[in-house]
Formats: sequence, structure tokens, C-alpha cells
Amino acid sequence: MKRLENKVAIITGAASGMGKATAKLFASEGAKVIAADINIDGAKEVVKEINDAGFTAIAQPVDIGSAQQIEEMVLAAKEHFGRLDILHNNAARLNFSGDVDVMNMDIDEWTETLRYNLTSVMLGTKFAIPLMLENGGGSIINTASIAGIHPELSKSAYSVAKAGVISLTKSTAIQFGKQGIRANAIAPGMVLEPEIVENGHESLKQYAQIFEETKATPRIGIPLDIAQLALYLASDESSFITGQVISADGGMTVGNPTISAIKKAGIGW
Ligand SMILES: NC(=O)c1ccc[n+]([C@@H]2O[C@H](COP(=O)([O-])OP(=O)(O)OC[C@H]3O[C@@H](n4cnc5c(N)ncnc54)[C@H](O)[C@@H]3O)[C@@H](O)[C@H]2O)c1
Repeated sequence: MKRLENKVAIITGAASGMGKATAKLFASEGAKVIAADINIDGAKEVVKEINDAGFTAIAQPVDIGSAQQIEEMVLAAKEHFGRLDILHNNAARLNFSGDVDVMNMDIDEWTETLRYNLTSVMLGTKFAIPLMLENGGGSIINTASIAGIHPELSKSAYSVAKAGVISLTKSTAIQFGKQGIRANAIAPGMVLEPEIVENGHESLKQYAQIFEETKATPRIGIPLDIAQLALYLASDESSFITGQVISADGGMTVGNPTISAIKKAGIGW
């Protein structure tokens, strides 16, 4: 028996990165997948890959800035597959150009970042719960970030939104746990497709190298690292786990960047 046999899963942001890896992994483990994304052509390509491999998925257009479109996305699960067991709120707005320190924060940037990265997660959860309850519950997996645990010198709005995602996850877990709904958050560290780094600009390579040096494992994360954790949280193997935030960051948040920098400078003791 596959790990998600007979389950129906919605994954937002399924056209690329972690969402794409998760959509493919969930489908290969037996789930019927709704691959939702604002990039509908990208979502359709992922769905084609899944279907060509003999598994089940459909593409669903969604802009997570729109409550109406999020509700339509959730209803698509009922319409096409009759139920909903798993919601993976993974999509986010990842434009950080105006998301700076608090003193210089642009109010529109702040509002939009919270709308796309936090309100969207609340709306997905709000619309999914009644449908999950029709069949005795489900698993909600929200993508936070280590930035929601350890804020950065910049990206104030993103960090607050992701901290909010963690808090919302805990609220959902305690409010609907008795009715069979679990909610957990994943906090990824630096995650990039290796080929994007290899083919990328020199500054991206340097960026990736800095992250390699400031954590415990020998490499930065790949989308499959996150997809495998999402699979565990989606499956019944994690049925006693709810309200948790699990970092998948190669030990970045327990590492010591200062010591890394000292070693690099060749200063011993
Ligand atoms: N990559 C990292 O290092 C990292 C680290 C920490 C947290 N995260 C979080 O992981 C999640 C996935 O990130 P990723 O790196 O895979 O990103 P990605 O850019 O590879 O994929 C994001 C997907 O979301 C879609 N999307 C963007 N705006 C949307 C909208 N308004 N409506 C619907 N879909 C939309 C995009 O089209 C894209 O397919 C995000 O929540 C991000 O905040 C990423």
C-alpha cells in the first residue's frame, strides 16, 4: 500500500521548486493531486509529467492573493475527486526588493507581503477545513521559513509573515485536532535546485557557498528534501504529530556561522 493511497491533496505553488517536487512525490505515493499555481502553464507541465508516469493529477489556476480563487481551488478537490485530505500551503510571494528593515519599510510592501504569505495560508485553511471534516479530518502542511524563527537584517515583512504562518499552524492544530485535523509547518533553510546554481550567475554561486558554509551538512537543500518531510507530515505515519514547526535546514539554525568565518580566515586556537 502506498503512503498516500486514496488521499486527495492540494499543493499550491506546484509549478516549480518545492511545490513541484512535492506534487510529483505525493502522486507517486498514490495521492490524487491538484497542482495549483498562478503559473498555470508550469502547473500543466508538472501534471503532464505526473500523468505520463501513470499517476493522477490535475492543474488548477490560483492566485493566492484572491480569496475567491483560493475557495475555487479548494472546491476543485470536491468537484474532481469528491474529497480533500491534504492541503499543502506552499506558494509564497518571493519578491524581496522592497522588503527591508523596519525603519525603511514601505507600507504597501508590508501589506502585500502579509496578504500573499500569511492571509493566503489562513484562507486556504479556512476553506479546506469544512471539506476535510466531511471525511473525518486531514493534514494541513504550511510552508514557513527559518526566517519566521530567526529574523534577518532585511526581509522584515517576510519574516513576520512566516512567523505568523507558524502561529496560525498552532491555532489550527488546537482548534480542530479533536475533529481529526492535523496542522504542521515546515521551516526550510536555503533550498535551491543544483542545476539552477550551476547554470546561475556568479553571485548566485557565491550566495549558495555562503549558505553551505553556515550550516552543519555538506550541501544546501534541494526541493526533494522538503518534499520528503511534507510526505511524512501528509501521511498517517505522522498521525500523532500536530502543531509543530519542523526545520529542514541542514542544521543552519543550530550551526555557528561565526566559527565558520573564523575557520575560513585561518585563525586557529
Ligand atoms: N527556497 C528557499 O530557500 C526557501 C527557504 C525558506 C522558505 N521557502 C518557502 O518555500 C516555499 C516554496 O518556495 P520555492 O523556493 O519552492 O519557490 P519557487 O519560486 O520555486 O516556487 C514558488 C511557486 O509559487 C508560485 N506562486 C507565486 N506567486 C503565486 C501566487 N500569487 N499564487 C499562486 N502561486 C504563486 C510560483 O509560480 C511558483 O511556481 C515558499 O513558501 C517559500 O517562502 C523557500
